[in-house]
Amino acid sequence: MSDLFDPKTPNPSLIAPVDARIESYLHGLAKVKNEPVLLQMEALAQAQGFPIVGRLVGLFLEVMAKSIGATRIFEFGSGYGYSAYWFARAVGNDGQVVCTDGDAKNAAMAQEFLTQAGLWPRIDFHTGIAQQAFSTVPGEFDICYNDVDKDQYPEVWQLARGRIRRGGLYICDNVLWHGRVTMADPVPDIRPGWTEAIREHNRLIFNDPAFDTFVNPTRDGVLVARRK
Ligand SMILES: C[S@@+](CC[C@H](N)C(=O)[O-])C[C@H]1O[C@@H](n2cnc3c(N)ncnc32)[C@H](O)[C@@H]1O
Repeated sequence: MSDLFDPKTPNPSLIAPVDARIESYLHGLAKVKNEPVLLQMEALAQAQGFPIVGRLVGLFLEVMAKSIGATRIFEFGSGYGYSAYWFARAVGNDGQVVCTDGDAKNAAMAQEFLTQAGLWPRIDFHTGIAQQAFSTVPGEFDICYNDVDKDQYPEVWQLARGRIRRGGLYICDNVLWHGRVTMADPVPDIRPGWTEAIREHNRLIFNDPAFDTFVNPTRDGVLVARRK
C-alpha cells in the first residue's frame, strides 16, 4: 500500500509519530532477533509494499502476549503471517493462534513461512472473512488482534470485546492512520470513510468502562485495551 506512509518518500502532510532517528535506533536494538525467515518476510513486505506491522510492533505483540500468559489468540487480518509469527512465538507449544485472511495466496505463504519457522503447528488458519470465521470458533480468547480493512474496525471491536477473557487484551494496529485521525480535513485516504471509522473505533474503546486503554505510538499507533 504505497499510499500509506512511505518513510523514503514521506507525504509531508502525514505524521510519523516517532522521530525517524528514534525508530532507527530501536530497529538497531531489535536486530538481535534476526532469523532468516523473519528477514524473508520483511523483504517481501518491502518489495511488494505489503503492510506488515514491522519489527518493532512485532516485538511489542510478543511481549504483550507473554506478559499475560496468552495461549489462545484470534487475529482478524493475518496477511501472510508476519504478526502471527510474533504471537505464535509467545503462545508456546500448547498454544494456538487463529489466523484469518480473505486471500488464499496469503494463507499459502503463511503456511510456507511459519512452517520454516517451526511455528505452523500452533496456527489454525481460516481463509475468508475474519468476522465470519470468528463466529465459527467458539470460546474466549486471551487476545483479539484487529488488523483488517479500516472501515471494519468498529464492527470488529463490537464482535471481539465480549469474547476477551478478564485480564485479556484487545490489540489493534494503525489507530493513528499516519496522523489522519488528528486532521480536520484529513489527507486523502486510500478508501473513503477509513479515517472516520478509525476515529469512531478509538472513541468507542476509550469510552468503554469495561476496558483500560492506551495507544502505543510506535510506527502507526497500536491500541491496547485490557478487559477489567
Ligand atoms: C494490514 S494486512 C495484515 C498484516 C498482518 N497483520 C501483519 O502484520 O503481518 C491486512 C490483511 O487483512 C486482510 N483482510 C482485510 N479485511 C479482511 C476481512 N474482513 N477478513 C479477512 N481478511 C481481511 C487483507 O487481505 C490483508 O491481507
